[in-house]
Amino acid sequence: MSVVILGIESSCDDTSAAVIRDGILLSNVIASQKVHEEYGGVVPELASRAHQQNIVPVVDTALRQAGVKANDLSAIAFTRGPGLLGSLLVGTSFAKGMALGLGIPIVDVNHLHGHVLSHFIRTEPEGRVPDFPFLCLLISGGNSQLILVRSFSDMEILGKTIDDAAGEAFDKCAKVMGLPYPGGPHIDRLAKDGDSKRFKFSKPHIPGLDYSFSGLKTSFLYTLRDEKRIDPEFVEHNMNDLAASLQATIIDILLDKLDKAVRQTGVRTVAIGGGVSANSGIRDAVATFCERRGLTAFIPERRFTTDNAAMVAIAGYHRFLDGKTCSMDCVPYARVEI
Ligand code: KG4
Repeated sequence: MSVVILGIESSCDDTSAAVIRDGILLSNVIASQKVHEEYGGVVPELASRAHQQNIVPVVDTALRQAGVKANDLSAIAFTRGPGLLGSLLVGTSFAKGMALGLGIPIVDVNHLHGHVLSHFIRTEPEGRVPDFPFLCLLISGGNSQLILVRSFSDMEILGKTIDDAAGEAFDKCAKVMGLPYPGGPHIDRLAKDGDSKRFKFSKPHIPGLDYSFSGLKTSFLYTLRDEKRIDPEFVEHNMNDLAASLQATIIDILLDKLDKAVRQTGVRTVAIGGGVSANSGIRDAVATFCERRGLTAFIPERRFTTDNAAMVAIAGYHRFLDGKTCSMDCVPYARVEI
């Protein structure tokens, strides 16, 4: 009998539902919330309200697109955390209610496992997936971590940021440049026509495999402040070069520790994941990095880099096969490690 999983993601500002049958993705619907743009960041209460409005139509559309009836479902997987508690509550409560009505189990998924396991989403049976163990550079708005992935459930954090995440570095610097939130995609676009060697920003000297991005943010801020004293329109005159130089610095920082992790572990397969892995410069740099060292690279499709339910459904699928369903009294958690 087929295993059909409905995945639900509501940890931040995207309401998403996806259906996976026997490991193959049938649908992945995402409703992004535009309401936060004018505030320059996600407003938690507004996010929960938008999830409430979106969840029923999003789940309904995902089932219809998949050609699956609610009664065909084997289990419902949902993001339990980490994330915004009010947002998580919407997805968790919906999953519980629907599963109770259908008499099927629920499967709780760690959002970060979802990002790592997004490499196992297949749209066709021959789809390429990584072999264990592999290294995953997980870079998003809230995380920057180097993870050793030994199996679907055994993951070890080798290094993580001690302050800001890579996504925050993109977003905060973009904000200083007057770009809209989230700034990452704008920096990516502007960097394409810029000189990445034009400006030098400070890089951290942190031992081991941990990251730090707060010094870069400060150095960026001070450069702009000093230059604006000479040319008040310095930012407008140098948008592309600033974006390219910032992006190149972030890439250097990320790859420096990735290189160390590869050498320390001897692992030959490298994957990237999380919203920031949509960045063109990072994707190209990781591909080149792997090619030069004879490593196998896994760069996710862009639609699976930012928050999506397909990754929750695939992580839930493997948990379900392992018998890891959870009880109806489970509660979401705002903070949790991988
Ligand atoms: O994983 P994600 O969707 O959710 C959070 O963890 O919040 O990641 C969102 C982050 C934001 O910081 C956004 O600016 C960044 O991913 N991002 C990018 C790009 N696309 C999204 N950063 C750089 N270049 C991009 N193309």
